[in-house]
Amino acid sequence: MDIQFRQLEKWFGTLQALKPLSMTIQSGEFVSLVGPSGCGKTTLLRMIAGLEDPAAGPILFGGTPVFDSENHINKPPQKRKIGMVFQDFALWPHMTVFENVAYGLKATGRKREVKEKVTDALKSVQLDAHHERYPHQLSGGQQQRVAIARAIATDPEIILMDEPLSALDASLRDEMRILLQSLVKKLNMTAVYVTHDQSEAMAMSDRVVVMNAGEVQQTGTPEEIYQRPVNDTVASFIGKGTLLDGLVTEVEEVPMLKVSTEVQIPLSSKKTKGLKPHDWVHAIIRPEQVKLDTKPSEAGLAGVVETVSFLGERYEVSVKLHGCNERLFAYTHEKTAPGQEISLTVRNTIHLIQHKGGLTHEETA
Ligand SMILES: Nc1ncnc2c1ncn2[C@@H]1O[C@H](COP(=O)(O)OP(=O)(O)OP(=O)(O)O)[C@@H](O)[C@H]1O
Ligand SMILES: [Mg+2]
Repeated sequence: MDIQFRQLEKWFGTLQALKPLSMTIQSGEFVSLVGPSGCGKTTLLRMIAGLEDPAAGPILFGGTPVFDSENHINKPPQKRKIGMVFQDFALWPHMTVFENVAYGLKATGRKREVKEKVTDALKSVQLDAHHERYPHQLSGGQQQRVAIARAIATDPEIILMDEPLSALDASLRDEMRILLQSLVKKLNMTAVYVTHDQSEAMAMSDRVVVMNAGEVQQTGTPEEIYQRPVNDTVASFIGKGTLLDGLVTEVEEVPMLKVSTEVQIPLSSKKTKGLKPHDWVHAIIRPEQVKLDTKPSEAGLAGVVETVSFLGERYEVSVKLHGCNERLFAYTHEKTAPGQEISLTVRNTIHLIQHKGGLTHEETA
């Protein structure tokens, strides 16, 4: 079932927690809301759930309004046919696993059906052997599985999740992420997933919505927001990398990014399309676009290794560039040491973001 908002907006007193937002989440789509703490992710999710009333804007599920202030429609959460999973699991401590999962189903009446649905839901999260236990007799990961089983037991077409994995340790989080991802697709649910972990959002989603201060900055596939961020906020929030300030110039017909007199990076003409010489840009340079060479070379940029982190399959190296005040990150299989002088080449396909207002260097100087 698809979800639509039109000019959806929320105020808490004088604070605009969500600036007017229009979007459609397609049926079966997995969409993540990411952004720094306080940017409005939970508020948006709670409005979809019916736990918070919007100031304006209808919300439609499959074309039918569940909230529309003009027509006085505001369906309560239990009538919206959604499943919800929260960070703190929110299980009833005095109920067994079975009773917790059955809780939302009780209203449907028929006992045999309840038993079947609870058993199926517990099977799909691999907890069918534990239905008589109480929450305190389960590990954190198992408790979160119960919460997931409870959310899917009512066969919702929409599932809303607010940081469901953030209370779990790293290895469990990976396991649960895969379980959630495959369950959502198998049951063909439309999912809205809140997280402040951008790598989790990129790993799980069909589309990512990057928010900041109540405003959507960019909506796109994980590849789009990583490779072509629309502004500095998105570029610095999503993925690892360095934002370099520079000037577009040309040397012997090759477009260049001039960061300083000594630091100039060749650019592909595809990337400079629409830009003029002297345009001020931000370049986002990802570690995989930087090649390290331990032998100093004329062609590359010179720098000194600052830190070396072993990541298992490779090293991540931070390099302070000579001739400007910036540091770049690179991945390498070769072991280097802090203090080592090296040479860097940057791929010419780095993404450029034009400065707002298109000010040129002369105008800002
Ligand atoms: N009930 C409320 N009353 C007043 N202000 C609120 C209320 N709920 C949220 N806010 C404010 O609205 C803004 C958005 O909050 P929200 O909980 O949506 O952020 P978030 O993106 O989920 O952050 P986090 O990552 O920390 O969970 C914040 O400034 C918050 O203080
Ligand atoms: Mg939140």
